[in-house]
Amino acid sequence: MSKSAEADLAALFSAAKAAQASAYAPYSRFKVGAAIRTAGGAVYSGCNVENAAYPQGACAEAAAIAAMALAGERRIADILVIGDGKDLCTPCGGCRQRIREFADASTRIHVAGPEGVRKTFTLEELLPHSFGPANLGRGTP
Ligand code: THU
Repeated sequence: MSKSAEADLAALFSAAKAAQASAYAPYSRFKVGAAIRTAGGAVYSGCNVENAAYPQGACAEAAAIAAMALAGERRIADILVIGDGKDLCTPCGGCRQRIREFADASTRIHVAGPEGVRKTFTLEELLPHSFGPANLGRGTP
């Protein structure tokens, strides 16, 4: 990885880690942070927000995507998701589909723990043969 790509990833990690600290997860006690980098280099982050009516809770990736959309941006180049524990905090199935809406097969999904990035996937690896805007005859958003 080039020095500037390394610096970009470090900045994405810092943004996701800061977002994780703001997570509201009193029920699962599993705090998650997510940070998106767009092709233009802007970074948007989000955290999970749970609810006493459990199904109303929202994932960190959904919050980061909403922040990106609010800024008028539509393309994810990289997304980093951070969670605690020894297992990989890979995006849930629903979030893979949420990411897919604004991504392509080669979009990178970095999965991190408190110490740093543990593994990097492409969207195609996590959501093969996916359904997207083209299936509805729509162009790339
Ligand atoms: N969670 C996320 O925020 N993103 C994921 O992709 C996996 C799960 C949250 C949802 C819930 O608040 C907590 O982690 C435990 O499932």
